[in-house]
Amino acid sequence: MESAADTIKRIFGDSQRSLGAEMSETTSRYERLRNANFPQPASTRFIAVANQKGGVGKTSTTVNIAAALAQAGSHVLVIDMDPQGNASTAFGIRHSSGDSSVYDVLEGRLDIAEVKQRCEAFDGLEVVPSSIDLSGAELEVASMEERTYLLKHALERFLARSDEHFDYVFVDCPPSLGLLVINAMCAVNEMLIPIQAEYYALEGLGQLINTIGLVQEHYNPDLLVSTMLVTMFDRRTLLSREVFEEVKKHYPNIVLETTIPRTVKISEAPSFGQTVIGYDPRGIGAVAYVEAALEIARRSPSVLAAIESKQGEH
Ligand SMILES: Nc1ncnc2c1ncn2[C@@H]1O[C@H](COP(=O)(O)OP(=O)(O)OP(=O)(O)O)[C@@H](O)[C@H]1O
Ligand SMILES: [Mg+2]
Repeated sequence: MESAADTIKRIFGDSQRSLGAEMSETTSRYERLRNANFPQPASTRFIAVANQKGGVGKTSTTVNIAAALAQAGSHVLVIDMDPQGNASTAFGIRHSSGDSSVYDVLEGRLDIAEVKQRCEAFDGLEVVPSSIDLSGAELEVASMEERTYLLKHALERFLARSDEHFDYVFVDCPPSLGLLVINAMCAVNEMLIPIQAEYYALEGLGQLINTIGLVQEHYNPDLLVSTMLVTMFDRRTLLSREVFEEVKKHYPNIVLETTIPRTVKISEAPSFGQTVIGYDPRGIGAVAYVEAALEIARRSPSVLAAIESKQGEH
């Protein structure tokens, strides 16, 4: 039988620039991914998704990569550390003011086990929701001695008591370099930095890398920038390709080969309480995020080895 990709190719022709060619390419990529084997990491990967720049795709990246990995059989925990609660929204999880959330976890009132919720759309995906109340947390915990380790200690306590094994723990960070983000950086050993393909993309990156350096020096020597992902990529523009090349030149082993295209489905999905993986699984946005997730999964052995060797240094 003719494959869907061949049908589209037959109808639309093979022109590189045509919409038909693009659809046909997306369909072939989708079919290839369905048969792909996602290796599970040998131990839990703890990954904070951060960039102090607003609107670069942190939350879209967190929720869609997490959903893609869960769909491929991984057990995934997502911690929403942003008072905006966008990740909680995308997973269709209630997060009104007063609901139990990561705010209660940070302030020691509740355990992660008591606030986490299952995401209906994906087996194996659990979420610690945020709440707008979290916006007061930075000030409230500022004078606490252990203020940078509140999330780390809560996570360690939860994992020590739980008989569940997680393959991945993601933390979605707010657009700042404040105490919530420092808590995320102290609770993980990997940073995933989404970089929007635009003119000013690399401008704030130096500041972020500096902050990560300070956190490494003072709080968490194991922290590693393991992954960068170029988002909102428009392959018709020279600028997008230049941003990708520039990032690749500076961080050759860190940036993923996959780029996330700018597509309206990615921005529509949250308004339906969904990830794009659930909302439009065969579309170019979902396909790109599943490819990025596969790259992340395949890099587990080398990333875990790098973390282990960092741990061995002290
Ligand atoms: N690849 C994409 N194509 C089109 N729109 C996108 C894409 N990625 C993200 N968006 C949209 O851009 C906006 C910002 O994305 P997102 O919320 O993921 O960024 P963020 O870095 O988490 O933002 P914030 O700094 O506010 O937390 C959202 O409206 C989102 O739906
Ligand atoms: Mg966000």
